[in-house]
Amino acid sequence: GLPEYVKIVEVGPRDGLQNEKVIVPTDIKIEFINQLSQTGLSVIEVTSFVSSRWVPQMADHTEVMKGIHQYPGVRYPVLTPNLQGFHRAVAAGATEISVFGAASESFSKKNINCSIEESMEKFEEVVKSARHMNIPARGYVSCTLGCPYEGNITPQKVTEVSKRLYGMGCYEISLGDTIGVGTPGSMKRMLESVMKEVPPSALAVHCHDTYGQALANILTALQMGINVVDSAVSGLGGCPYAKGASGNVATEDLIYMLNGLGLNTGVNIYKVMEAGDFICKAVNKTTNSKVAQASFNA
Ligand code: HMG
Ligand code: MG
Repeated sequence: GLPEYVKIVEVGPRDGLQNEKVIVPTDIKIEFINQLSQTGLSVIEVTSFVSSRWVPQMADHTEVMKGIHQYPGVRYPVLTPNLQGFHRAVAAGATEISVFGAASESFSKKNINCSIEESMEKFEEVVKSARHMNIPARGYVSCTLGCPYEGNITPQKVTEVSKRLYGMGCYEISLGDTIGVGTPGSMKRMLESVMKEVPPSALAVHCHDTYGQALANILTALQMGINVVDSAVSGLGGCPYAKGASGNVATEDLIYMLNGLGLNTGVNIYKVMEAGDFICKAVNKTTNSKVAQASFNA
C-alpha cells in the first residue's frame, strides 16, 4: 500500500541553481528560499559548501545560509563533501548536513575528485563530527540507476554504498537517478536490493527527469514503502559533472500526483507555483513543470 504522508525534500535552491549558467544573485536566492519556506515545505536544501572553483554557482553559500529567514518547522540542510565544508557550514549556521557519494567510481572521481572508498573515509569524519554536535546527516548516493561515464550500475553496488552510509550514521539515504535514465523496472530492482540492507523508512528517492520517467519511478518507490521524495520547483536542476542530465522532477508535478493519490504533503501547490514563477523569471527561463505550464495557460 501507499504511505499516508509523503515528505518532500525541496532541492531547487541547491540542485536547481548549481546547474544554471547564469549565477543567480544572492539576494534572489534568499528571497526564493524565504518564499519556499512559506509553502508548507518542511525541508529545503539551501546550498553546498563545496569549492567555488568547482561550482561557482554555490560560492555564496555562507551569505545565503546567513541571509535566509529560518522559519519554525522548516529544516535547511546543506551539502558538505568534507570536513572543510562541514566546518564552514556550521560556522554559517547550518544545523543539518548531507554528504554525497556515488555508486560509480568514475562519477565519484569526476564529481568529488576521489574514489568511492576515499569518499567514504571523508564522510565518516564528517558524519562523526556532525553527530558530536547533534547535527543530523543525510547521505546521497548518485548514479543509482545509471552513470554518465560507466553506463549500467548494479543494484549490488548501490546497496553496498547505501549500507555504508547508513552504517556510519546517516539517518536517511537519498538514492539519486542523477541522469534520469531509470524506469519503474530498474527502480524496483534497485530498491529490492537496497531494502535488504536499509529499511524503507530510512530511504528517499531523488529522480531527475531526463527521460520523462521520474513520476513513474517515484510512484514505484512509494508503492514499495518509501515516503521521502526529493524534487525541485519548476523542474530546475542537474549536476555539472553529469553532462546531459536535465532537471529534477518538478515539485509542482510531484504534489499534483500526490494530491491525486490522496496523500498528504502539507504543501500548498499554488504557493509553490508562485515561488517557481519567481525563480523562473529571475533566471529568465520557462518552467519545466507541466502542472505550472497547464495552470498558467488555463
Ligand atoms: P579537491 O580539489 O579534491 O580538494 O576538491 P582538496 O582537498 O584536494 O583541496 C584542494 C583545494 O580545494 C584547497 O584549496 C582546499 O582548500 C579546497 P587551495 O589550497 O588549493 O586553495 N577545498 C574546498 N574549498 C571549499 N569548500 C570545500 C573544500 N574542500 C577543499 N568543501 C571537492 C574536492 C569535493 C571540494 C571538489 O571536488 C568539489 O567542490 N566538488 C563539487 C562537487 C559538487 O558540488 N557536485 C554537485 C553536487 S552533487 C549532485 O548534484 C548529485 C545529487 O544531486 C544527487 C544526484 O542527483 O545523484 C546530490
Ligand atoms: Mg541531483
